Amino acid sequence: MKEIKHFLRFSDLAREELESLFELTGKIKKKFKTFERRQTLQDRTLVMVFEKSSTRTRLSFELGMSQLGGSSVYLNTNDSQLGRGEPVADSARVISRMCDLIMIRTFEQEMIETFAHNSTVPVINGLTDQHHPCQVLADIFTFIEKNGSIQGATVTWIGDSNNMCNSWIDAANVLDFNLNISSPPGYEPKNINDSGNVKFFSTPEVAVRNADIVTTDVWASMGFEEEIKARKLAFQKWQVNKALMSQASKNTIFMHCLPAHRGEEVTSEVIDGDQSLVWDEAENRLHVQKALMETLLLEL
Ligand code: CP
Ligand code: NVA
Repeated sequence: MKEIKHFLRFSDLAREELESLFELTGKIKKKFKTFERRQTLQDRTLVMVFEKSSTRTRLSFELGMSQLGGSSVYLNTNDSQLGRGEPVADSARVISRMCDLIMIRTFEQEMIETFAHNSTVPVINGLTDQHHPCQVLADIFTFIEKNGSIQGATVTWIGDSNNMCNSWIDAANVLDFNLNISSPPGYEPKNINDSGNVKFFSTPEVAVRNADIVTTDVWASMGFEEEIKARKLAFQKWQVNKALMSQASKNTIFMHCLPAHRGEEVTSEVIDGDQSLVWDEAENRLHVQKALMETLLLEL
């Protein structure tokens, strides 16, 4: 029996495991593009628990599992007992007895940790308030596909120090690339000390200099909608627009996990422009998560 390994945050995989996963992703993507079957997870089952909305995460996990020969079940808080107060630990014990793999999108990281602690099968974080590791896997694979290794590269995060930002911080530490972060006062990351690979900049224009990737995200993440008015004021100078991109290089890549709010955190000119790789990032969720599911379920 394979030892249970969860993917609750980016740093749950070591550098060597990530390198193998990205290599596997390349093979899986190539087969997909040439219509070759790859049914490595026949008869395996995935349960997906969603406590927040999703397009990409649901599609990529559900289609990914079915393309690999397995099947999946979608649960949400509205029509499962999870929304009616059944303890997380009890839900984890029951759900994990009936399937091979579980993916959860929820609010607090603590919920997913409690769930994983009581689960007899691997648990994947499909986004919490604190982390979004699957998206950063896809983003880094997207960079590697275009430019080769990310080691030593510079990624600049502009905006809210949210779940995506935290997963980029984890990734910079595990994969040894530079991460520059610029956020408005009051929205800075609390868990960095400007040492090692991660540096904080109060000015976005300085943060993007020498960047290989400039990336951003919505000003108010899911669960923070009531703060949107205050955030719209605070984040004005942290918009990724043509002027900001011109402080980097013409080869700098723009990334966004999507969904995006054009005219807020990014202008149409940038997200729909030549430097943007947002559609590749979205597609690569499918390929990278297939590799992740194989990594967690199979003896590779
Ligand atoms: N990027 C991302 O996770 O998208 P969804 O919210 O649509 O799943
Ligand atoms: N930070 C965003 C990411 C959405 C995929 C959110 O949590 O809403």
